[in-house]
Amino acid sequence: MASQKFVKELKRTHYCGQLSGSLVGQKVVLMGWVETRRDHGSLIFIDLRDREGIVQVVLDPKNPDSSSAKDLRSEYVLAVEGIVRERPAGMINSKIKTGEIEIETIRCEILNESAVPPFQIDDENVNEMLRLKYRYLDLRSPVLQKSLMTRHKVLQLVRRFLSENGFIEVETPIMFKSTPEGARDYLVPSRVNPGTFYALPQSPQILKQLLMIANFDRYFQIARCFRDEDLRADRQPEFSQIDIEMSFIDQEDIIEMNEKMLRLIWKEIKGINVGVIPRMTFQEAMDRYGSDKPDTRFGMELKDLGKIVQGCGFKVFDDTLSRGGFIRGIAVPTGATYSRAQLDKLTEMAKKAGAKGLVWIKWDAAGVTSSVAKFFTPEKLKDILIATGAQQGDAVLIVGDDFEIMCASLNVLRLHLGKELKQIDNKSYQFLWVTDFPLLEYSPEDKRWMARHHPFTSPADDAFDDLLKKNEKNYGKMLAKAYDLVCNGYEMGGGSVRIYRNEIQQAMFKVLGMTEEETQSKFGFFLEAFKYGAPPHGGIAWGLDRLVMLLCETDAIREVIAFPKTAKASCLMSDCPSEVSRDQLVEVGIRLSPQAEKNLEDTKKSGH
Ligand code: AMO
Repeated sequence: MASQKFVKELKRTHYCGQLSGSLVGQKVVLMGWVETRRDHGSLIFIDLRDREGIVQVVLDPKNPDSSSAKDLRSEYVLAVEGIVRERPAGMINSKIKTGEIEIETIRCEILNESAVPPFQIDDENVNEMLRLKYRYLDLRSPVLQKSLMTRHKVLQLVRRFLSENGFIEVETPIMFKSTPEGARDYLVPSRVNPGTFYALPQSPQILKQLLMIANFDRYFQIARCFRDEDLRADRQPEFSQIDIEMSFIDQEDIIEMNEKMLRLIWKEIKGINVGVIPRMTFQEAMDRYGSDKPDTRFGMELKDLGKIVQGCGFKVFDDTLSRGGFIRGIAVPTGATYSRAQLDKLTEMAKKAGAKGLVWIKWDAAGVTSSVAKFFTPEKLKDILIATGAQQGDAVLIVGDDFEIMCASLNVLRLHLGKELKQIDNKSYQFLWVTDFPLLEYSPEDKRWMARHHPFTSPADDAFDDLLKKNEKNYGKMLAKAYDLVCNGYEMGGGSVRIYRNEIQQAMFKVLGMTEEETQSKFGFFLEAFKYGAPPHGGIAWGLDRLVMLLCETDAIREVIAFPKTAKASCLMSDCPSEVSRDQLVEVGIRLSPQAEKNLEDTKKSGH
């Protein structure tokens, strides 16, 4: 039955999906999986699938060399020797690439059988948990095959482009010391030095800077990064970066080089010529879109209403303004038709993003109605409508709050409504450089200033003084030489020009509230390196997975990663993370806490 003989005797001549009319009359040898089997009694039709696509194979069960045809089932592995022939008129299938031809079988061998698969490979309605458990089957689907091929092509392009531009690919360690990128570290205990740990890199940031000090001038790496943070549709705990660093450059050099690479990728993969990539400061992005990674494929921009509503007697707005807060709104096309329930849903959404409430105004043929009608004259309401650019038939949604909350809640509403109201052209790519980020942001929870990008980012030229003099009243205003590459509302990449002088790096650590000892134990080796002639340098890292997501036109990062994790950071296929033996724990000097023990027991009881 299942035979190795055929593979030895005959070699594959073509991939199924690459066959075409030009091969009619030619003998071919194919290897692949049975996608579907249709038994017409005297003839059996099979769709044979391999990496490149499917082709129809016609088997005659009376042919002694195809007698196994009767036993074929989905996902059996076959070798087929046959002649390419045109399909009879009326039997052409224009839905597949090879739809004009079929294979008349001379010989068919079953190379391996398959258990009944838990789902049909091309069925798009299968539960994702099941698909992740049987990821190797899911990966046979055309969508996932295509996305991983695209990923491969992108990697080849990037490697070629960067090598041609003088970048050297250097691998940096996975077992290293903590590198701060704002998430929790994944830790690896050391057996040889019990009680000590390696951290998996959140990025190779420190190492790539050391490579600049080490005179490599231009570095890149397809770097695996690990971050223990809350997961989202565009975030994985383990992801890849196209990590880049250059010496003797400024921000413009980095932007220019990366634009060239972006243009090459979009041209080669999508056939699209990317035009001028606009720039926007962080402040402008927040003011206009409420987000530092705005989706600029559609309007519905935030408009300031502070001056119009000031002193109108609506206490919530008046209080917000006197606290130094902001009142802004967005016009929602066709929003005048919203029911009470719909507006309640939008209010809930705004509240989830932190807002205390949502004010609405509707304008239809019958006139203007509003949740705050009793506080505003009809003229004022009209002024608001006009200021936001609303037309008759639209609604305006308004939030008054601190800048961050106002931005966050209007951003959520804008993105939701933009999608729901089909304001977004799904086929277009809108790129944007966001620049001039704040250097620091205050964390009320930690009661200290944090680096907005990371602590190695250079302040803008006019911020050095405040940093060195520890002029705290200006911390919030200091800008950074940092930039993000944004596409369709995704942060596709981010980077900065770096601090390269020891005393400035030390001052930065101080501003971030680190003691001398902390600085030494965490970054002593790094500061030491700065004493030996660090060149001016800077760089960027692209999120490779997000880049491929955008190219594949999907909004699920899992679709572009071969073996992804779930939202709970686990792998359903291998069932990891999983328990290890007590001996292994003893070896690395670890004892589980009562809480961890209980968790293991509960998991065993529940059978997961
Ligand atoms: P940053 O933290 O901005 O910068 O990361 C760079 C890019 O990596 C991608 N990214 C992610 N992709 C998937 N899942 C995640 N959890 C995830 N986190 C980040 C994003 C992001 O823009 N060392 C600096 C770069 C530098 O300064 O050169 C860094 O890591 O697309």
